[in-house]
Amino acid sequence: MQICVIGTGYVGLVTGVCMADLGNNVTCVDIDKAKIDGLKKGVVPIYEPGLKDLLKRNKKRLKFTTSIKDGISKAAIVFIAVGTPPTKTGEADLTYIKSVAKTIGKNMNGYKIIVDKSTVPVGVGDLVESIIEDNSKGKYDFDVASCPEFLREGSAIYDFMNPDRVVIGAKRKEAAQKIAEIFKPLNTKIIISDIRSAELIKHASNTFLAMKISFINEIANICERVGADVEVVANGMGLDKRIGKLFLNAGAGFGGSCFPKDVEALRSMARNEDYEPLILNAVMDVNKQQRKIVINKIKQMLGTIEGRQIGILGLAFKPNTDDIREAVSVDIIRALLDKGCRIKAFDPVAAKRVKKIFSQVQYVKDEYAAAENAECLVVLTEWNEFKEMDLKKIKKAMKKPGIVDARNIYDPKKIKKLGFEYAGIGRN
Ligand code: UDX
Repeated sequence: MQICVIGTGYVGLVTGVCMADLGNNVTCVDIDKAKIDGLKKGVVPIYEPGLKDLLKRNKKRLKFTTSIKDGISKAAIVFIAVGTPPTKTGEADLTYIKSVAKTIGKNMNGYKIIVDKSTVPVGVGDLVESIIEDNSKGKYDFDVASCPEFLREGSAIYDFMNPDRVVIGAKRKEAAQKIAEIFKPLNTKIIISDIRSAELIKHASNTFLAMKISFINEIANICERVGADVEVVANGMGLDKRIGKLFLNAGAGFGGSCFPKDVEALRSMARNEDYEPLILNAVMDVNKQQRKIVINKIKQMLGTIEGRQIGILGLAFKPNTDDIREAVSVDIIRALLDKGCRIKAFDPVAAKRVKKIFSQVQYVKDEYAAAENAECLVVLTEWNEFKEMDLKKIKKAMKKPGIVDARNIYDPKKIKKLGFEYAGIGRN
């Protein structure tokens, strides 16, 4: 199939490359010339395990261009995967979607299916349809559809190739079935629905997962007060199939480019319809509070926080990515610097991004260098290498052996036995 993907951000690029791997000819379009020039040479602008190799393997079926006109000219299906960043009020900014829809409309040259893959508020399918209609002056027949993406950063290729389901919303069943053909090789459940329901499935799913995280964090905070261990509680809850054990890791809270933005967007959607979304408010409040709880744990461990030497392990919003959008690390570092702390930080891949925000932090080469002279070591991202590090060596390097484990990666008993003071989340 001839496919065009507009937008080579996380979703667009991974989708484009994976669809090429499924045997389609894919043209990826982006207005960023430097990015497109790089991609033509095989340079992948994001850190995503396996993406570079997959791109290389499928280079015959992949084209990159900055022209939407060229990109869509031969395409039967056009995916829109541009950003929908939040505005100040939390709504999704639709500037890029509208501009792309306009350009598609102006350059239509025959029947096409336009599929929205960006996460958008309910009703954007209709908006895209009317913009294309206006700009193509009704010359060509077309369908608009919604096919939300559920992939996670760090395991994006696996997620694309092994989805739990594919959701396709369209007015005409034939259009949905044509899109479904792309995903047939994945042997998964395909849900065909109306466009609005498809759009809401994405927000509702992400928000539900964010809610699970805030819920377990709230339970963790209760655990600390009643003397229970959240890891044990989460395990006991998660084995109930109706609850499920995934996304019940208590910690410093959720970050990234999706959860915070999508919960906010759903909140705005509800408020625009005069509905106050009480659960969603709580999801965000607990998440914000969780970052303060980490700071308090550092304070508690040190007595006073002013001017202390602190080691930070992990800057990315989660492991296996260099993404720091809405990362807990950024808020925590800011708060510590405000108190005059001196910080040595280590992350396997994300340091260069945080460096652009905080030049005062010392970015070091490994865990042991971050621990050097530290009075407290704070784990903010659960990279595997932190789980495996030599704790005896860490203890030797530190001025005072204390770990605030904001991702609960260590066994409190073992770590205390080694002589560390330890504070996890919901485990005291
Ligand atoms: C998420 C959704 O999982 C994905 O389906 C959607 O397409 C995009 O948004 P992503 O943002 O890449 O994916 O990361 P995810 O693995 O879901 O983690 C999000 C955040 O939640 C991270 O900050 C992570 O540390 C946190 N998290 C996750 C927890 O705190 N506890 C958990 O149990 C799981």
